[in-house]
Amino acid sequence: MKKWNVNSIKALKGECKISCLTAYDYTTARIVDQSGIQLILVGDSLGMTMLGYKTTLPVTIDQMLHHAEAVSRGVTDAIVVVDMPFMSYQISVEDAIRNAGMFMKDTGVDAVKVEGGAFRVPVIKALIENGIPVMGHVGLTPQSVHAMGGYKVQGKKSDDAIKLIEDAKALADAGVFAIVLECIPAELAKEISQAIDVPTIGIGAGVGCDGQILVTHDMLGLYSELTPKFVKQYADLEAAMREAFKQYKDEVENSVFPAVEHSF
Ligand code: KIV
Repeated sequence: MKKWNVNSIKALKGECKISCLTAYDYTTARIVDQSGIQLILVGDSLGMTMLGYKTTLPVTIDQMLHHAEAVSRGVTDAIVVVDMPFMSYQISVEDAIRNAGMFMKDTGVDAVKVEGGAFRVPVIKALIENGIPVMGHVGLTPQSVHAMGGYKVQGKKSDDAIKLIEDAKALADAGVFAIVLECIPAELAKEISQAIDVPTIGIGAGVGCDGQILVTHDMLGLYSELTPKFVKQYADLEAAMREAFKQYKDEVENSVFPAVEHSF
């Protein structure tokens, strides 16, 4: 399989639905990549799933660099996108270029993702002009959780829906190669997907998007602290891990492990 890039991902629109997952470490990234997933996001959701924070806000550039590097080492085919963490691109265009440049230079990722609608266009354009591919993210933007008053479905009122369509069009015109649509009504996501020529990647946005993304810990049943309605659990690894750990403890206590074949 050839390495996916921004052009081949864009070309999938209308041809084949795009499957995307998050990864935060080398081992998981390898397995996700070997499963044929086209896009791997080093999401700042790692703040919750890997670091135990309540939101994505405390995540630092150094933490994202550390995880992005590990993921890159495990991937050969998928396009790897890293989330720019909170306050690494909001302060100024110059700051955004410097920080995004660091991700590209130091981690081997292929693109960055930034949250926000039309107001984010100056930053997005500056990054793209400087050779840094950008993925957009509108709808529920978790870095603005406090401003949004919680993790709520966005675009339910007609004014908000119109604004979201305009935001998505502005991002597409600015040159993003794909846009995450998070937690918006399925009909609205379908309308946005039909209105723009870059792929939409839905999470809680229905089947009318050009692709889907899930947080890998959620779909594997590894993160039970928050289970949004849009998550489908494809495995129950938490139960499987608990069972394995209990069996190990039991075998250690009863001198069943190590057996002869594990001993020198
Ligand atoms: O941080 C993340 O994992 C994300 C996805 C939910 C799209 O932004």
